[in-house]
Amino acid sequence: MKEWKIGVVGALGLVGRVLLEILEKRDLPIGELRPFTSARTAGETVTFRGKVLQARELEPGSFEDLDVAFFAIGDDISREWAPRFQEAGVLVIDKSNAFRMEEGVPLVVPEINGEALGPPFPSLVASPNCTTIQLAMVLHPLRQAAGLRSVAVATYQSVSGSGQKGMEALERESRGEEGESPYPHPIFQNVLPQCDGFLPDGSTKEERKLRDETRKILGLPHLPVTALAVRVPVPVGHGVAAFVELEQPLTAEVARALLARSPGLEVWDDPQTFRYPTPRAMAGRDGVAVGRIRQDPDRPEVLSFFAVADNLRKGAATNALQIFETLVAKGWRGR
Ligand SMILES: NC(=O)c1ccc[n+]([C@@H]2O[C@H](COP(=O)([O-])OP(=O)(O)OC[C@H]3O[C@@H](n4cnc5c(N)ncnc54)[C@H](OP(=O)(O)O)[C@@H]3O)[C@@H](O)[C@H]2O)c1
Repeated sequence: MKEWKIGVVGALGLVGRVLLEILEKRDLPIGELRPFTSARTAGETVTFRGKVLQARELEPGSFEDLDVAFFAIGDDISREWAPRFQEAGVLVIDKSNAFRMEEGVPLVVPEINGEALGPPFPSLVASPNCTTIQLAMVLHPLRQAAGLRSVAVATYQSVSGSGQKGMEALERESRGEEGESPYPHPIFQNVLPQCDGFLPDGSTKEERKLRDETRKILGLPHLPVTALAVRVPVPVGHGVAAFVELEQPLTAEVARALLARSPGLEVWDDPQTFRYPTPRAMAGRDGVAVGRIRQDPDRPEVLSFFAVADNLRKGAATNALQIFETLVAKGWRGR
């Protein structure tokens, strides 16, 4: 049986660590797991399946014999190193924003557009933005059943979405201490209507990703997607409140039934028992939960819902791993 040689680039970051945790429990034959980190943290260790492994710096000669590498690093480092891995014949599954909108690069949520993975097999696959994944997971079955006209969405994004620095800022501020923060305002006891930097038109990059990536994943290049992305003082788990204009009206009951049948989706929707998804309840879980599903009484073609996922799992590590598993199931055999 093939034993995979797997690299994790950014293994000490939030997404990298969760990826190792999930990989450890997966029933996957792994011959070697090689963690990479920056020069700053090179030499630090991680434990994987009982072995203590030293994370090393990326350098020529350190990665060329791998089958696959999961990139959980910033855009610039992905841009610099991914082509070198590809040239060496190492499949790259990239969590960053570097290549998502590049033509010819599959942007994949396996439950939605796994067919974009080939064959022919790609040498690089991009895993989408975290909030986009959980939004698209709900839009896809709605689109299949009733068609999509437009989407309006407001997000409630946890600080782990900004990486380790976001988590540290919230923890530090909650102790009343000052220090470096990725945010322009305090995040503790606050809500910031800004995720990522601003673009010239006044929207943020996160809001642009929500529009562009949703269109690419669903294969609907003209779908209107209006977004407002908001950072909230929650450690892990993003929420999205969406208002979807369908081509055909759907009752909430029918929508619940069809979403409950969709792979990777769970319906938590019972107002009688106060059942709806929350970030705390979804943290540490792999799927996407959706609730508060309602048909608008004045506009029957409008359906609204609230969906939550663990941004480090389905929003990042789990989705990347599912991409790899889908490729293997399709016959990709590595080097
Ligand atoms: N967090 C999320 O919810 C989420 C969701 C979807 C996608 N993503 C994307 O996933 C990527 C990782 O995010 P994250 O939240 O895990 O960030 P993070 O916690 O800041 O981790 C990034 C890691 O990359 C390491 N690193 C920096 N330079 C490196 C280099 N040259 N070679 C190898 N490793 C290097 C860092 O090490 P040092 O600390 O030593 O610099 C750090 O451990 C980003 O592109 C992010 O946009 C994140």
